[in-house]
Amino acid sequence: MNNGLEGVIAAETVLSHADGERGAVWVRGHTIERLAAEQGYEGAVAVMWDGFAGDGLTRAGMQEALAAARAAAFARSGEWLDCAARRPLAEGVRIALAALPDDAAPAAILGTLPVAIAVLLRRRAGKPLVVPDPSLATAADLLHMIADAPVVPQRAAALDTYLATVIDNGLGNSTFAARVVVSSRASLAAAALGGYCAFCGPLHGGAPGLALGMLDEIEASGDIDGWIARKLDAGERLMGFGHRVFRHRDPRADLLRAALKRLEPNSARLGFVIDVERRAVAALQRRKPGRRVEANIEMDAGLLLDAIGLPRQAFTPVFAVARCAAWLAHAMEQRQTGRMIRPASTYIGPIPAEAAPAE
Ligand code: ACO
Repeated sequence: MNNGLEGVIAAETVLSHADGERGAVWVRGHTIERLAAEQGYEGAVAVMWDGFAGDGLTRAGMQEALAAARAAAFARSGEWLDCAARRPLAEGVRIALAALPDDAAPAAILGTLPVAIAVLLRRRAGKPLVVPDPSLATAADLLHMIADAPVVPQRAAALDTYLATVIDNGLGNSTFAARVVVSSRASLAAAALGGYCAFCGPLHGGAPGLALGMLDEIEASGDIDGWIARKLDAGERLMGFGHRVFRHRDPRADLLRAALKRLEPNSARLGFVIDVERRAVAALQRRKPGRRVEANIEMDAGLLLDAIGLPRQAFTPVFAVARCAAWLAHAMEQRQTGRMIRPASTYIGPIPAEAAPAE
């Protein structure tokens, strides 16, 4: 059997498509390039949720709805803050999501994530919390709530591009998890939490911080090829390489790289990343000649989020601010069009004595 369900069609969706051959991502009739450039994060959420969470949704309307949701999430944060602040950030955000009631609306769920990230970062640093600013879009408000300082517009624009670029790409691991959860008629809040739990693993949304950590280690070693060889000899994975769908270059990596260049035209680390990518892809190719493992988006994502000024512990939860919009869209679509997901398995355990064929 194919134990990663590679190539298995498990849903029909109008929401998004990742085309590994063409190197393309489409979101509801938009290429990811146009979506990020023309719609921004809130516009992308409106595109995905239209017809599911309301009709005729617009970017401006979504900005207003998410601002109101952040205000409500901030007002409720006392319900989870003390417990969540004692845990690592990604776990704390999970606790904030878990505290949502079953009847939470999609915007209320999505608006909880940026608030949780900001208040947890500030509480853990012993700083006073910053009330969300309803006049700001999600990206700018997240930076405002974290830093309590005037937002640098270029940084807010770069984060907005990031959030729109990584919003969805077909039936990813966490998106499938969200669809499975809601398919039993569980709530949207439960589906978002299920998506988040799957997402945080190091092979999926947990990768961007680890990819940047890997770059630090390689740089400190002073020997790119030797470092890569040691990791591969030890049977370890190189963070930021490989993708189930994109065997060639992931188109989103170019968008994130362009955003980084706009923000930091002289980024010293970008040249290093390009060198690491080239050498790692060659090393992987030598070890598995029949298999293409290319760089994915995570090193570019890590560099961009770092340049925006976000701490590394926030990379995965910030990625989830984008992807949670997709978990919710897919969960709403699954509710409308899907059946309970219940695949089959092949039993390879011992046969009970009573069931064994007679001698
Ligand atoms: N480093 C080293 N070897 C790799 C890597 C890698 N990054 N990626 C794949 N391989 C090798 C595996 O070791 C495996 O070898 P084997 O057949 O000898 O066991 C083979 O390629 C196939 O691995 P799979 O996990 O089955 O391949 P798949 O294409 O399904 O993997 C995945 C996709 C999980 C992303 C993988 O490439 C990986 O672990 N990458 C590193 C983590 C990472 O960057 N994740 C972020 C992905 S993007 C996202 O989710 C947002």
